[in-house]
Amino acid sequence: MANQGTKSATLQIDGGEPIDLPVYEAAEGPDVIDVGKLTSQGYFTYDPGFVSTASCDSAITFIDGDKGILLHRGYPIEQLAASSDHLELCYLLLNGELPNSSEKAEFVSTIKNHTMVHESLRQFFQGFRPDAHPMAVMCGVVGALSAFYHDSLDIDDEVHRKVTAHRLIAKIPTIAAMCYKHSQGQPFIYPRNDLSYAENFLHMMFATPCEDYEVNPTIAKAMDKIFLLHADHEQNASTSTVRLAGSTGANPFASVAAGIAALWGPSHGGANEAVLNMLDEIGSVDNIDKYIAKAKDKDDPFRIMGFGHRVYKNYDPRAKVLQETCREVLAELGVEDNPTLQMAQRLEQIALEDEYFVEKRLYPNVDFYSGIILKAIGIPVELFTVIFATGRTPGWIAHWCEMISGGYKIGRPRQLYKGYNKRDFVAVDERG
Ligand code: SDX
Repeated sequence: MANQGTKSATLQIDGGEPIDLPVYEAAEGPDVIDVGKLTSQGYFTYDPGFVSTASCDSAITFIDGDKGILLHRGYPIEQLAASSDHLELCYLLLNGELPNSSEKAEFVSTIKNHTMVHESLRQFFQGFRPDAHPMAVMCGVVGALSAFYHDSLDIDDEVHRKVTAHRLIAKIPTIAAMCYKHSQGQPFIYPRNDLSYAENFLHMMFATPCEDYEVNPTIAKAMDKIFLLHADHEQNASTSTVRLAGSTGANPFASVAAGIAALWGPSHGGANEAVLNMLDEIGSVDNIDKYIAKAKDKDDPFRIMGFGHRVYKNYDPRAKVLQETCREVLAELGVEDNPTLQMAQRLEQIALEDEYFVEKRLYPNVDFYSGIILKAIGIPVELFTVIFATGRTPGWIAHWCEMISGGYKIGRPRQLYKGYNKRDFVAVDERG
């Protein structure tokens, strides 16, 4: 739990008795004011959207939105993207330290040996129409996992938590690829233990029983980087959903399924799909000015998807890495003059120079370039958020483990009540 430092805050309401509130010191970023005692004074705090609210203490990820800084267990995302890989980051998020070579080898082997799903789970997919949105399928299938793993559902058992974390990290790419294969009417491809995490995912996505499928190493490297860059992001909406669901004692599979549902929204993880749909709607570089004007019009709900962020008021450091990865992938595929990328780059350039975006500190976020890479790889737009969920799963389960192992209370926010005052019931024949 948080510990009080030397600072304290005093609140005086309407000239009443001053209320002393403890201040807890952060290792990085803002300190926090513990407002817990306000309830006994007859008050709640009010912060719709939790813009200024710390819901928990955590040691996993730190974001400085003004400086565009993202640290995982203290390591900058730029260094992890350049020198680490997704599974090594999964280990770091779960354990707090980078693995040594034997720890890494053991972790990779453990994950590889959990990638298959229960054979009965394959039947589960048959209940979905082929044109079902893959996020609906992934949400249902991950929630159903708790029906298969009764041997690891004691949330107070550290070994059970560890096994569940490994199972989710290992199986989520298999489930993601199965969502795709089901939508294509193609047979599911079993995972292979001779391939890396990203290679295995691409193989399960694009291989068929009819011929050998060679994974392109540049594409596999880009896929691994996409997973790595999406792995965790502090208390975002979906991670907060996982924590809230988990705080009731719900099993981790159900809690992660709740996170998948929250991620689906176009303001959150659904933005990568929305970016491509937006670029398709804009259609041509010639129309960009018209759409920038729509985005600035208070009466127009249109927004530049992939732009803006609740925390980053500077460049999202992940977007910068993905911009470079995007160039590498398109060059490897020989489509550098990809019209969608050219439109995205022109849109970014115009928006970054426009006073509306400058004044509101709106910059490209992680979703702005990821969709262009995924589309170039051959992943359909409706599967983009499934890819985001696949990358984010280690973050979700790391936060769930941190909460469950660290002592927690059930999440139960209050409200500012704006309804009727007490009134008596009126029988139906006496109503007007
Ligand atoms: C992710 O939280 C996380 O960490 C999320 C994430 C993660 O890794 O988990 O980083 C992943 O979700 C990234 C964000 C993806 N979403 C989008 O790209 C959708 C487009 N962006 C916006 O919807 C918006 O920027 C949000 C939802 C991301 C942030 O919304 P906020 O913090 O609630 O800010 P806001 O909506 O109040 O916007 C502030 C102002 C508003 O104008 P005013 O009311 O102050 O006049 O900026 C405007 C907004 O109208 N604005 C935009 C805009 N984003 C904000 N105007 C045009 N286009 C945009 N994209």
